[in-house]
Amino acid sequence: MRTQVAIIGAGPSGLLLGQLLHKHGIDNVILERQTGEYVLSRIRAGVIEQTTIDLLDEAGVGARMHEEGLVHDGVQICVDGVRHRISFKEMTGKAVMVYGQTEITRDLMDGRAAAGAPTIYAAYDVSLHDIFGETPTVTFRADGKTQEIACDFIAGCDGFHGVSRKSVPPNAIATHERVYPLGWLGVLSETPPVSEELIYVRHPLGFALCSMRSPTRSRYYIQCGLAEDIDAWPDERFWEELRPRLDDEGRQRLVTGPSIEKSIAPLRSFVAEPMRFGQLFLAGDAAHIVPPTGAKGLNLAASDVRLLSQALVEHYAEKSDAGIAHYSSRALARVWKAERFSWWMTTLLHKLSDDSFEQKIQLAELHYLFRSQAAATVFAENYVGLPF
Ligand code: FAD
Ligand code: DHB
Repeated sequence: MRTQVAIIGAGPSGLLLGQLLHKHGIDNVILERQTGEYVLSRIRAGVIEQTTIDLLDEAGVGARMHEEGLVHDGVQICVDGVRHRISFKEMTGKAVMVYGQTEITRDLMDGRAAAGAPTIYAAYDVSLHDIFGETPTVTFRADGKTQEIACDFIAGCDGFHGVSRKSVPPNAIATHERVYPLGWLGVLSETPPVSEELIYVRHPLGFALCSMRSPTRSRYYIQCGLAEDIDAWPDERFWEELRPRLDDEGRQRLVTGPSIEKSIAPLRSFVAEPMRFGQLFLAGDAAHIVPPTGAKGLNLAASDVRLLSQALVEHYAEKSDAGIAHYSSRALARVWKAERFSWWMTTLLHKLSDDSFEQKIQLAELHYLFRSQAAATVFAENYVGLPF
């Protein structure tokens, strides 16, 4: 088999890149380790920035998002039972949209099927060869056979645990990491949300987040330990832990019900540098992880894909490799801004230790954010997404 760009991973990064390249007549094949159903079963991101919305529109898959997505003009931060609102519209003139990653993935999968572009699911033992040479190849096992794809470029869109980043010689890559001593326990339920807007909660019992997927479907998260066993969290225990973290109004409006999904995600900050190695490019979670608090992971993946698709279009259509040469530095400049914001929001809102000094500083910092127009503006600018 031969293609122009071999894409590893059919998460949002790989599917979006594939769709944008296809629009520009650039051949690509996606290899995904899991089945399509499995990829769709993972409940993850919920908040998307305007630049991500624009890119999904450009890829031709934005119609359902505009119909079903919920536009949010602001966000609420609840500190020890008192809510504070930060208006994105007032501070930045912009808004974000709540539309689940699962739905984005479904729209991208449908778009790819309609375009007739190939995705090979259940592709095992994917292996990258000759990434610094002229003719890289990818080998894999599917349908019981070992197969090979020759290509011009490889896009590693295979998430944090993928094979692409691990294929790079250790002396060619630097990594920077912070592992937080906590995770998020998330529950999806067919119940109306407690509020029209997201509520991020800082409470002595620990962090909580009230989010949603629709006016009848809620998504909640609470901070949990890293060694937590999901089976030790029946629904009642989850609601009992969430309820006392809310304010009076939240407690009154909270509608509980059976969970339709429950999962634990560890919190991590991670950056690999550079993001290009010869003919191999890393994009999305394959190159960097942010803790979910700032809602930046999927948006950062989309901004990598935007830069990478533009670079590849320039290469094929304009015979210019300037975009390719600058991909890593341009992507990393955005990555570190999102890393800073996500780290800052995480350290501000979670119970990280029993250290009373740390807790008092958190409170002082939060009250500064609520009092200072400048601080709230910087927060809003970061949350809705920095311009390119
Ligand atoms: P992934 O989604 O991880 O996709 C990678 C794909 O590659 C997977 O399908 C995987 O099966 C496949 N793969 C892996 N290894 C191989 C291999 N060897 N061969 C072939 N295929 C392979 N982000 C936001 O922007 N906003 C939010 O509100 C938000 N909330 C989040 C909440 C939670 C609880 C979590 C866990 C994450 C959240 N994120 C959020 C982050 C967001 O989900 C990720 O950043 C996003 O999924 C990254 O997409 P990706 O395509 O780069 O990687
Ligand atoms: C959601 C996830 C996040 O990480 C976040 O910061 C906001 C919302 C969500 O799943 O809805």
